[in-house]
Amino acid sequence: MPQGILTAPSPGNQKLQDSSCVPETDETNTAGVKEASGTMLRTGVRLLALALCVSAGGDFDWTKNEKTSFYYGTFPTGFSWGVGSSAYQTEGAWNTDGKGMSIWDVFAHKKGKISSNDTGDSSCEGYYKFKDDINLMKEMKLNHYRFSVSWPRILPSGLRSEHVNEKGIRYYSDLIDLLLNSKITPVVTLYHWDLPQVLQEKYGGWQNASMVGYFNEFANLCFERFGNRVKHWITFNNPWSISVEGYETGEHAPGLRTRGSGAYKAAHHIIKAHAKVWHTYDMKWRSKQKGLIGISLSADWGEPVDVSNQRDVEAAERYIHFYLGWFATPLFHGDYPAVMKEYIGRKSGQQGLGASRLPVFSPQEKSYIRGTVDFLGLGHYTTRYVTQKNYPSSFGDSYFADRDLAELVDPKWPDPGSEWLYSVPWGFRRLLNFVKTQYGNPMIYVTENGVSEKMPCTDLCDDWRMQYFREYINELLKAVRDGVNVKGYTAWSLLDGFEWDEGFSERFGLYFVDFRNKNKPRFPKASVQFYKRIISSNGFPSQREVESWKRKAVETCSSSNQLLAADPLIGHMEMVTEIVVPTVCTLCILLSAVFFMFLLRRRL
Ligand code: NOJ
Repeated sequence: MPQGILTAPSPGNQKLQDSSCVPETDETNTAGVKEASGTMLRTGVRLLALALCVSAGGDFDWTKNEKTSFYYGTFPTGFSWGVGSSAYQTEGAWNTDGKGMSIWDVFAHKKGKISSNDTGDSSCEGYYKFKDDINLMKEMKLNHYRFSVSWPRILPSGLRSEHVNEKGIRYYSDLIDLLLNSKITPVVTLYHWDLPQVLQEKYGGWQNASMVGYFNEFANLCFERFGNRVKHWITFNNPWSISVEGYETGEHAPGLRTRGSGAYKAAHHIIKAHAKVWHTYDMKWRSKQKGLIGISLSADWGEPVDVSNQRDVEAAERYIHFYLGWFATPLFHGDYPAVMKEYIGRKSGQQGLGASRLPVFSPQEKSYIRGTVDFLGLGHYTTRYVTQKNYPSSFGDSYFADRDLAELVDPKWPDPGSEWLYSVPWGFRRLLNFVKTQYGNPMIYVTENGVSEKMPCTDLCDDWRMQYFREYINELLKAVRDGVNVKGYTAWSLLDGFEWDEGFSERFGLYFVDFRNKNKPRFPKASVQFYKRIISSNGFPSQREVESWKRKAVETCSSSNQLLAADPLIGHMEMVTEIVVPTVCTLCILLSAVFFMFLLRRRL
């Protein structure tokens, strides 16, 4: 059993910020046990036979947790390296060129929903600066770029039958063309959370089964217009978050709190919508376009607190099935994990409900949904220790309570940024091996992995991020050597962006964006250089080389720091040229005119 585990922090329990630029590691905190709660620490045994084939961990060996030393070696030839972004987080231009409103436009404009009441109205101005951004990608020698299409940018009311916004289509089309000309493969997410507001207002968004058809129409339009050039499609990004944070806790748009039922309903419709889009592509487009349709699922790893304790192992397994398995098991095996059906069904009964809060797939739906993943996108950031914890039915309906478990963290784990994000590289390899054993070793693209910083002052020499990438990518390499079928890795993210309910307070970017300056200039953090070297070496060739990378990266970041420090001045000068100079000129012209008239009148 690991020593000194703590429960993970609750949202109200903010980490103390020190005024230096050194990120926290919490290493001094070695006391007792700390329990996770809130957004990330969803606290929630029944013994469940491991033989339940749909939900059990297959061949996964829980006892085999090799925390081996750094492995020097390279990835298979052709391994794809990329960075990611999403529309609402970076594009800005929220009401430009005919774009319709999304649920995030509306949500962020409501006071009190987002940290500092930030909005994505202008964000990184990516809509206007995509050419510059592609230059940054070219410099990094990336193989792919993952971005998302804003549904209301191309279908302002959500419906194809009502209006197709050609200016929106043009934007994505130009972006795709320029990527291809730059030899960067576009990996396109169709839904990264920005549902057209009209669909939310009229139908209740993902609570309503009609979304399945509307999403399919939107996807079909994207295949029609971009599919000749795009070969990698991701239907949904992180449906767990859409469902739980959008419909259970309400921290995300549309901000609903339908505890214990809305999240399951939303997920049910999302799974069906994914399957429908896969079939549409399969029937209508695949033979012509020869692309792949995947989904991007997020999952933290859940490690049993005590691996020799069967109840802890089962709790950890439940944690993963309620997270990843909720979506992956229907898509790979045709139905929800048995453990979800059992727990939610039993609790619904105890709550006096006539039916389970977890919806049911019909036999036809099961076979329609099964096998609709050409590749699995995986977003992964962090790990939790998990132990059994009973929630009495008096606790009320709740996704978190349904799981009957508690999440814990080790205070020694570094946590430089977001409150929920502890750096635990070995969890990544465990998760990848779990996916391999559980879902028949599918083709995997890591669609997100990275770390944020939440700092009182700015430092582009992001030592901790280099460390995070070095260790997580090394665990990925070990997983590839374990036989996990991973084809690519996507660092999250290219730019600092709008970090959802955290606004601009948490920065995940390889590039720092100066949001104070209306031109939103980008500055490379040291991790740009570091990641670039991993890419050019296709891994970690030798100890001597890898050790020099950090040193070299840090050499360049101090000059970027100076440039950034001068940026408010530049912004100020720009303001002088753009506002003060024209105002003074206009005043001069007016005064001269008045003076001239005065002279004229005197002469007359
Ligand atoms: C997952 C989301 O897909 C992405 O939009 C977000 O920036 C990262 N997590 C980091 O929180």
